[in-house]
Amino acid sequence: MWFCGYKFRTDERVLVPRSPIAELIVKRFQPWWSETENPTALEIGTGGGCIAISMALSLENLDVEATDISAGAIKVAQENALLHSVGSRVRFYLADLFPEQKRKYDLIISNPPYVPSARYTRLPKEYHCEPAGALVSGEDGMDCVRRILEQAPDYLMDGGLLFMEVGELWEVVDKTFSSIDFTWVDLEFGGEGVLLVSKEQLV
Ligand SMILES: C[S@@+](CC[C@H](N)C(=O)[O-])C[C@H]1O[C@@H](n2cnc3c(N)ncnc32)[C@H](O)[C@@H]1O
Repeated sequence: MWFCGYKFRTDERVLVPRSPIAELIVKRFQPWWSETENPTALEIGTGGGCIAISMALSLENLDVEATDISAGAIKVAQENALLHSVGSRVRFYLADLFPEQKRKYDLIISNPPYVPSARYTRLPKEYHCEPAGALVSGEDGMDCVRRILEQAPDYLMDGGLLFMEVGELWEVVDKTFSSIDFTWVDLEFGGEGVLLVSKEQLV
């Protein structure tokens, strides 16, 4: 599959790359992010690594760490990192959302699973060819989203930003966390529900 103009190996262990976050990478997270000299990023739920690797390829000085709870996905991501020779700037960890070793990042990016369990059973057949764990996240679809919003401040530098895709769940997220002033990114190339929030807004 192609993502951000780069070719990625994809199989039944990972989601087919299609996140609208590609648009943000192509735009170097402008106009929202002021690039620092040696920036760092964490991608949560990397799947086959398309977001983490495209970020490293597009932002030359960026150091990227990425996690996934699926050992199969981490293997695919590592193969893709080799394919693009970014091994030294992208490291993958088997972890439950955040890496075990606590570090602070300029950017946290995530396209977590966010499909409510009842909705998953009604999704068209092609979705059932992808790993359920890449799509479903509890009864209301919010299990991962909730934990990421709660824990992200501990992993963000001051002024750091979280970009997270929540797709069609965006109105529910906006309502549930009504005290947080999310920016919903205007997506020129299609898709919906990508939020931007700073560490300070989350705290
Ligand atoms: C929607 S897919 C995104 C894959 C890829 N980043 C993309 O955008 O194409 C979500 C990914 O999160 C992973 N995941 C699910 N629960 C997780 C958890 N608790 N911790 C880390 N990764 C998780 C899944 O295995 C899956 O690879």
